Amino acid sequence: WVRMVTAQTPTNIAVIKYWGKRDETLILPVNDSISVTLDPAHLCTITTVAVSPSFDQDRMWLNGKEISLSGGRYQNCLREIRARACEVEDKEKGIKIAKNDWEKLHVHVASYNNFPTAAGLASSAAGFACLVFALAKLMKAKEDNSELSAIARQGSGSACRSLFGGFVKWIMGKAEDGSDSLAVQLVDEKHWDELVIIIAVVSSRQKETSSTTGMRDSVETSLLLQHRAKEVVPKRIKQMEEAIKNRDFGSFAQLTCADSNQFHAVCLDTCPPIFYMNDTSHRQVKFLVSCQCASHSRSSSKFYMKCDDTKMVAYTFDAGPNAVLIAHNRKAATQLLQKLLFCFPPSSDADLNSYVIGDKSI
Ligand code: DP6
Repeated sequence: WVRMVTAQTPTNIAVIKYWGKRDETLILPVNDSISVTLDPAHLCTITTVAVSPSFDQDRMWLNGKEISLSGGRYQNCLREIRARACEVEDKEKGIKIAKNDWEKLHVHVASYNNFPTAAGLASSAAGFACLVFALAKLMKAKEDNSELSAIARQGSGSACRSLFGGFVKWIMGKAEDGSDSLAVQLVDEKHWDELVIIIAVVSSRQKETSSTTGMRDSVETSLLLQHRAKEVVPKRIKQMEEAIKNRDFGSFAQLTCADSNQFHAVCLDTCPPIFYMNDTSHRQVKFLVSCQCASHSRSSSKFYMKCDDTKMVAYTFDAGPNAVLIAHNRKAATQLLQKLLFCFPPSSDADLNSYVIGDKSI
């Protein structure tokens, strides 16, 4: 017999970034972070997990290619779910797995991303969240989504935030064993459902410096990272929670852009410096800032708030050159997309490949 479960998990985009670990094995961050979960129809991972007495080892295929499961991160997730596995019985298929049998049984995992892997589009986030969720269903682990998030976190930090829809906060926690470092939902997907997300896929090439390596170097060498984690992010998290609660797009956009800028400043402050954004990304920021409000003072946060709705847009860049743009509503998104298509037309031989539209939702 074979028992199979398939799950689909959306990716998430951080608006207050996670960058830096205080524990590399348990994946414990140096600051809290907040993200928005995308609609799974647009950017998601679909994972099927299977168990059978005929499987003689754990195996995994990513986008059709077999990958090694020997890395600690997969093993940690598997071990944590196996430890919580319960008895499973399916009389129709003649399946009976006792709690203790799970230790001896092997799993096969097939996972697909409907977007470029490792191009700065948070593929590991959806990937590990989906793996953990599917394994928990396969093994009937009784954990709620926050408890599962603490397991997904051990696969990839940002993955813990993909277990929920809407806006999600990853609480860094204080405990040394990581038990209080987990994700909680701030508001569900209905709370601010007029937001529209546009991703400008500048390059789908694999990034040169992985997030894991990049943040390790930043922790070791960047003084700006220390300042950011201790002084800047705690205040920003509170302001962002307030902005989300009140659906205050002006503050939301200002905080999102400022946090993305500071994250990339930390990357530049790292030795050796890390360049995730490229020339096209920089030109897009210039263009967006000019759209936001040519006529207002740059020194004030009101800079964003005085603009009319259709001109307001938040931008954020993860560990890659792709711009993630968040528009206030559908009308603003349509107008923005028209301007982008005119100023930055996608072309197969240029830097810019395509635009992907994703609603904020689960
Ligand atoms: C820039 O979660 O990919 O996207 O924990 O080492 O797997 P690991 O890193 P990862 O880092 C994501 C960094 C980021 C910001 C964010 O998503 O918060």
